[in-house]
Amino acid sequence: MAFSDVVKDIEGYQEILKDIEILRKYGFDYSSQKGNIGQVIENFHPKRIEFSVSEIIEETASTKTIRLVPKHGSLPPFQAGQYINVYVEVGGVRTSRPYSISSPPNQAAFYDITVRRVGDGFVSDYLLDDINVGDSLESTGPAGNFYYNPLFHGNDLVFIAGGSGITPFMSMIREVTDKNLNRRIHLIYGCDNPDDVIFGDELSRRSRMHANFTWDLVVSTPPEGYQGITGFITAELMKSLLGDISSRTFYLCGPEAMYTFCGREIAAAGIPPRKVRVEMFGPPKEVFRQPGWPQGVSSDAVFKVAVRGGRTIDARACEPLMISLERAGIVIPALCRSGECSLCRTKLISGKVYQPSGVKLRKSDRDFGYIHACMSYPIDDLEIMI
Ligand SMILES: Cc1cc2nc3c(=O)[nH]c(=O)nc-3n(C[C@H](O)[C@H](O)[C@H](O)COP(=O)(O)OP(=O)(O)OC[C@H]3O[C@@H](n4cnc5c(N)ncnc54)[C@H](O)[C@@H]3O)c2cc1C
Ligand code: FES
Repeated sequence: MAFSDVVKDIEGYQEILKDIEILRKYGFDYSSQKGNIGQVIENFHPKRIEFSVSEIIEETASTKTIRLVPKHGSLPPFQAGQYINVYVEVGGVRTSRPYSISSPPNQAAFYDITVRRVGDGFVSDYLLDDINVGDSLESTGPAGNFYYNPLFHGNDLVFIAGGSGITPFMSMIREVTDKNLNRRIHLIYGCDNPDDVIFGDELSRRSRMHANFTWDLVVSTPPEGYQGITGFITAELMKSLLGDISSRTFYLCGPEAMYTFCGREIAAAGIPPRKVRVEMFGPPKEVFRQPGWPQGVSSDAVFKVAVRGGRTIDARACEPLMISLERAGIVIPALCRSGECSLCRTKLISGKVYQPSGVKLRKSDRDFGYIHACMSYPIDDLEIMI
């Protein structure tokens, strides 16, 4: 019997042929790319993407959306909720910052990033003040684990956003409502005041048009006469807005202070940790106020950091080691800059660092003396190996 006859009897063979037929009609048939696997992988997982800025949209007085179109080829697909790490050179310093993609994955022509000004910002000020339509930017490919997983998250989702933490949710909300997906979303969005609300009109419009999307705004420092919900997002408020919360999956995204506060409130509302997904927007602002910060190390202390085989630099206790290295022109690989992805793993040969809670250091890294430079603060003179 010929091989071509035997192969037809293999279980699943006919189904695969049908799938190939469907893909030929409606998808992309990668068989034409045979022998070119490296290029196909590079298209899906590029190390770098070069963009042109095609549009800048003023969202609020402190926030702009920067629309990025690829300079070459097409953009890799991503999951709603993922981010790109944007590379910049500011005042001679080469650095990067992650920004969530706020446009939905069903829109493949561009990525939007939505940047909010932070007090005394470095990269955010540069992006908001110095980047214009037609300029070039460079980033990593999309990354991160803050996205919907149909196997574990169910169809009933609660999004808790603080300030610019709305951006990954915007991508998810746009995708679910654009595609009429079978998911129910209730967004609770905390802002300092009503003028800070990003995407407010669009959220209201989508909520009016889609029964499966609801949102509530919670304002912490309301102007006089404000009629809406005020205060903080507490367990009590969640229960009153959401009703039965036991079967829902919670997603939490925002600045560190909100992440800590709401994380506690979600736990107080009786939601088990396995039902809570979190994304923290970068290192804490005032690390010396974090639990466990060593008494006796002042926030303006400066330590010596010797890079084995390289130079010795000064590093401030209150600044992540990665930033001190970048200030000195030493750039190490980075992606999340929030202690999660492990790309900035650095060997600590001697000395001590403070690492805030939330840093996802593998046990083997801890045992063998590795740290995540993006979320490690020197509290002693150090020797490191990059
Ligand atoms: C996964 C993820 C997604 C995010 N998504 C968004 C988003 O969608 N929108 C958004 O607005 N933000 C987002 N962020 C936060 C964003 O990445 C930045 O942290 C934020 O824009 C602040 O950056 P900054 O450089 O302006 O300020 P900081 O990093 O806080 O810098 C503050 C100060 O540090 C000093 N400094 C910092 N770096 C250097 C350097 N290399 N050299 C010299 N001095 C330096 C300067 O004195 C500066 O004034 C996200 C963060 C993460 C982790
Ligand atoms: S850059 Fe991801 S852990 Fe440091």
